[in-house]
Amino acid sequence: MAKSKTVYVCSQCGESFPKWMGQCPNCHAWNTLSEYKVEEGVSARYGSDRHRSQAIIESTEVKDLSSVQAEGLPRILTGLREFDRVMGGGLVPGGVSLIGGDPGIGKSTLLLQVTARLVGRGMKTLYVSGEESAGQVAMRAKRLELRPDGIRLMSEIQLETIEQVIVAEKPDFVVIDSIQTIFSSELNSAPGSVSQVRECAARLTRLAKTSGTTLVFVGHVTKEGSLAGPRVLEHIVDTVLYFEGDTHSNFRLIRAFKNRFGAVNELGVFGMTDHGLRGVSNPSAIFLSEYRESVPGSVILVTQEGTRPLLVEIQALVDDSHSPTPKRLSVGLDLQRLSMLLAVLHRHAGVSCFDQDVFVNAVGGMKISEPATDLAVLLAIISSIRNRALPKGLVVFGEIGLAGEVRPAPRGQERLREAAKLGFSRAIIPRANKPKEPIEGLEVIPVDKLSEAVAAVQ
Ligand code: TYD
Ligand code: MG
Repeated sequence: MAKSKTVYVCSQCGESFPKWMGQCPNCHAWNTLSEYKVEEGVSARYGSDRHRSQAIIESTEVKDLSSVQAEGLPRILTGLREFDRVMGGGLVPGGVSLIGGDPGIGKSTLLLQVTARLVGRGMKTLYVSGEESAGQVAMRAKRLELRPDGIRLMSEIQLETIEQVIVAEKPDFVVIDSIQTIFSSELNSAPGSVSQVRECAARLTRLAKTSGTTLVFVGHVTKEGSLAGPRVLEHIVDTVLYFEGDTHSNFRLIRAFKNRFGAVNELGVFGMTDHGLRGVSNPSAIFLSEYRESVPGSVILVTQEGTRPLLVEIQALVDDSHSPTPKRLSVGLDLQRLSMLLAVLHRHAGVSCFDQDVFVNAVGGMKISEPATDLAVLLAIISSIRNRALPKGLVVFGEIGLAGEVRPAPRGQERLREAAKLGFSRAIIPRANKPKEPIEGLEVIPVDKLSEAVAAVQ
């Protein structure tokens, strides 16, 4: 009998530890460690890195770098423009991707659409559904008005069977929907557990790399630790995409978190319609609220998502607090940073909020993490305190330092051009981002300090 040892694996990040702890020391999630018996023979293969390195390295010969041909990556375009964009310019043959997101957000819909597009381009595909019966998938295809010919479908959850089919059919493109439902009979642990998910994903990845198949895993984001979350797989795959945004709206945002073949933070914007996901051609418009007139507490920010500038409305509401500890709340923006910005606002612009509740919001369910949001957040707060709208047609961007200085943002010119294209007429920006040549229709107000920006909107 194979000897077995016990490890405790975090279902959030997949890290393993020799003893149980309440909080994972790696990702700081609570109650996510659970016990696994790892058989010695299996444990040697358990770390997926070995699989990956085996697959990627074709020869062990040592070469001079200058003698190696640098090849551009070939790309497979699906024709779904927003999907191709977020993948960094199309799928890479032999690339392995993970698409994560909450249940019901549209992962299966998107991948069925992608599969159908690839069939239309003459590729051999295989859609493995572990969650739905063939009938259910067929119903979705009908709803999406896809032509079913050529879409090879398999309702299967056993890894060994899936491997056999891939070897026999040699598809160019395979979808595994979802990786949490697949299990290997060689492991004792339950389907969906960390060891099953990691082992199954690693084996399928190795198979894909050796056969040149393009592979996409679907992974559910899990709230509680009962199933292994997709984060467990992030280091195995080449590309990690997550659905984000407001599930209550019809818009779906897909962001690239990791991409060995392209830009990270690239954003794809889709609308969910009765016939599936449609790319949104002018995404800036959806992040601006309905108000045509400018209102107090609202500012238009030009943010940069991957390679594309986007206009997003930032809203603030500042109101008298009735609590000894006033509330600070932010939706889509960093809360820690908000506290810091309020301190800078007090110190360098003389505006205090110590007895005020402060709420800030990025419209449209957008999550923005770049520091160039700072100036927009503070101007929205000032506008709300004064109960006075900012000038019409104004956009802003810029990071704020602790000394009250306004720091430059990357790709300033592109941001300004996008704002001018969408009809904005005035921009308050960091001085270092001032364009060398004037941009038609756009008055640029460069500032060095927060106090100058505040004065500019008096
Ligand atoms: P689905 O792709 O099944 O989500 P996931 O695989 O991420 O769990 O999408 C389910 C939701 O999408 C469901 O609420 C219905 C909706 N939907 C549409 O609005 N239009 C469509 O054409 C389809 C197929 C689904
Ligand atoms: Mg699904």
